[in-house]
Amino acid sequence: MTPETLKKIYSIQTMRQRARRELPQPIFDFADGAAEDEKTLRQNESAFDGFSMIPRPLRGAASRDLSITLFGDTLALPVLVGPTGLSGLFWPDGERQTALAAKAAGTVFCLSHGSTCTMEELATTSASPRWMQVFIYKDRQFTEEFCRRAEAANFDALILTIDNQIPGKRERDLKNGFTIPPTFDWQAYLGMISRYRWIWRMRHALKGMTFGNYQRPNETADLSTLAARMGEMLDPAMNWDDVKWLRRIWKKPLLIKGILHPEDAAKAIDLGVDGIIVSNHGGRQLDGAIATANALGAIADQVKGQVPVLIDGGIRRGTDVVKALALGATACLIGRPQLWGVAVAGQAGVERVLEIYAQEIDMAMGLCGLSRISEISKDLLIRRSVR
Ligand SMILES: Cc1cc2nc3c(=O)[nH]c(=O)nc-3n(C[C@H](O)[C@H](O)[C@H](O)COP(=O)(O)O)c2cc1C
Repeated sequence: MTPETLKKIYSIQTMRQRARRELPQPIFDFADGAAEDEKTLRQNESAFDGFSMIPRPLRGAASRDLSITLFGDTLALPVLVGPTGLSGLFWPDGERQTALAAKAAGTVFCLSHGSTCTMEELATTSASPRWMQVFIYKDRQFTEEFCRRAEAANFDALILTIDNQIPGKRERDLKNGFTIPPTFDWQAYLGMISRYRWIWRMRHALKGMTFGNYQRPNETADLSTLAARMGEMLDPAMNWDDVKWLRRIWKKPLLIKGILHPEDAAKAIDLGVDGIIVSNHGGRQLDGAIATANALGAIADQVKGQVPVLIDGGIRRGTDVVKALALGATACLIGRPQLWGVAVAGQAGVERVLEIYAQEIDMAMGLCGLSRISEISKDLLIRRSVR
C-alpha cells in the first residue's frame, strides 16, 4: 500500500474496515470478536459516550504537547501498544513490525506471552521501552523462567495479566473453526482463498509458525500443540500470594492487567505493584464485566496518584483517550486497533494507527483549550444524563 493510500485511512474504524477486506474471516473475527454475546466489548466502546467534554477554548492552546513520563521514560503520546497474541498471523513478523512502529512513534510496545516470535527475537529490534506480559502458570517455575528471560532480554517492565485464568468462550471462533486444533470447513477455506493478498504475503511466515516463547530447547512443536499446552498451564487457583511471589522475582516495574475493583487496586499497591491496568481483556473473557471507562474513575480515586493507572478497552478515538485521562488514567493501551493496522500495512499500518490517535488527541486538546497532558482533569467531563 502506498503512503498516500494509507493516509486516506482517516480513522481507526476505517482501518478496521480495511483490515476486514485484507484478512480471512476467521482471522479477522479472532481479533474483532469477544466472549459470548460480546456485550462487554460493545459497552467498552460505548461507555466513553457516557461522558461529555466541556471545552474552555479561551485558555489559549496554540500548540499542544502530548508527551507523558512513565516509569522514567518520556513517551511522545499517552497511547501504548498493548499485548496481543498471534500478531504474526496478521502480517509476517507482525510483532516485530508492530514494535518498530511503536518505537518510531515514541511509545511503549508490550509483547504478549503468545507472540509468534520469542522475547529474545523481539529484543533484536531494540524497540524500547518494551514490556513483557506473563501469566501465573500451574508450573510456577515456568512463570519464573519467563521473568528471567524477559530480564535477560532487557524488557523494561512486566505485565501480569490476571483475567485469562480460564479461556473465554469466543463464539465467533467456535463458529469459524478457529479452535485448537482448527476445524475449518470448506466455506472457511473458500473465504481464505478470496484473501489472496494475505495468502501470498504469509506464504513463508505460516510455515513453522509457533508460539515462540513456549518452545522448549531442541523442540519443534507446532502452533496447535503449543496452544493446547498453554491452555493446560493456565491456573484459576492463582491468588494474591502469587503477586507477592512475582514481586520478589521481578525487580523492575510490575503492572497488573485486569483490575476492575478499587480494592484490588489498593491491595496490589500494598504488595508493591508499580502500575494498575484497568482492563477486561477487551471483553474477550467475562462477558457482562463492567466497561473499563465506567470502572476507571473509582479506581483512580482509590489510587490517588500513588502509581500510574492505565486503561484499555474500546479506545477508538483521540477523544476517548482525553476522556480516559480526565477520569484519572495516566495513559491508554490499544489492542485491536494495532492488529487492524498491522494487517493493512505492517509497520506502516501501525504507525498510521498511532498517528491517527496523536492527531485526534492533539485536536481534542486544542479545541478544549489544553496545552499539556497534565492540564487534562476531571472538571473537563460531565456524565451525560441517560434517558
Ligand atoms: C487478538 C487479541 C489477542 C490478545 N492477546 C492478549 C494476550 O496475549 N495477553 C493479554 O494480556 N491480553 C491480550 N489481549 C487483550 C488486549 O491486551 C487488550 O486488553 C484488549 O484488546 C483491549 O481492548 P481493545 O481491543 O478494545 O483495545 C488480546 C486482545 C486481542 C484482540
